[in-house]
Amino acid sequence: MKIIIKNSAADASAAVTDMLLQQIGKKPDSVLGLPTGATPLAVYARLRDEFRNGRGCYKDITTFNLDEYLGLSAEDPASYSFYMRENLFRHVDFDLGRAHIPHGLAADADAEANRYEALIAAYGGIDFMLLGLGRNAHIGFNEPGSLHNSRTRRVALTASTLEANAAYFPPGAKQPSHAITMGIGTILESREIVVLAAGAEKAEAVAASVKGPGTEFVPGSALGRHPNTTIVLDTAAAQHLERAQTLEFDA
Ligand code: PGA
Repeated sequence: MKIIIKNSAADASAAVTDMLLQQIGKKPDSVLGLPTGATPLAVYARLRDEFRNGRGCYKDITTFNLDEYLGLSAEDPASYSFYMRENLFRHVDFDLGRAHIPHGLAADADAEANRYEALIAAYGGIDFMLLGLGRNAHIGFNEPGSLHNSRTRRVALTASTLEANAAYFPPGAKQPSHAITMGIGTILESREIVVLAAGAEKAEAVAASVKGPGTEFVPGSALGRHPNTTIVLDTAAAQHLERAQTLEFDA
């Protein structure tokens, strides 16, 4: 696991943006795994800016988002489909037909999860998976307790996640309690994984994920098993990592 610590969240986002742009430059038909939430907003803003300045071509890119709320349509402003269109897809030369996100209104969530898992496999897996890290160290919506070999499936969200995400729902709107998420095992099959985390509220989750031990109670700790993972942090999120530990994991 390689750890990169930047002085600010903006610098960490810039480093991740460069990694993404390098990936799609090197492999124009890359299959990307993408996250939502607050953390990647600055990355998507930078990708939009870079595109306006002529950098980045998305014509042949395929994307698989990590997760989607159950019960929300793709038109719902709180859905991750909506988030992706507004924050990235409609601003670049991307073919929306290549954007894959679990269907939040699927009548049979288990069947939808299986379809999604099979679709990722049909595309030959994910080349470059960008992840955020939840305050409870979740990756995607794999909450603590998720098996490290779990596959794409329907999950219940924890109180901590519901509270962290409540602000995205207008007052009075019903917040979904369940979602479909890529499994940890599915994520770990990606050829490269980049995790972005910033801010003091992520420091405990970062430390537990990086220092180990690998345990189901810390979903991020599964990343230690992956041969090509880079964690990009700001100094606040890295505050519980000692230099020696950082070096030890800098392999
Ligand atoms: P956040 O969420 O970026 O909104 O903090 C991270 C995550 O849940 O993966």
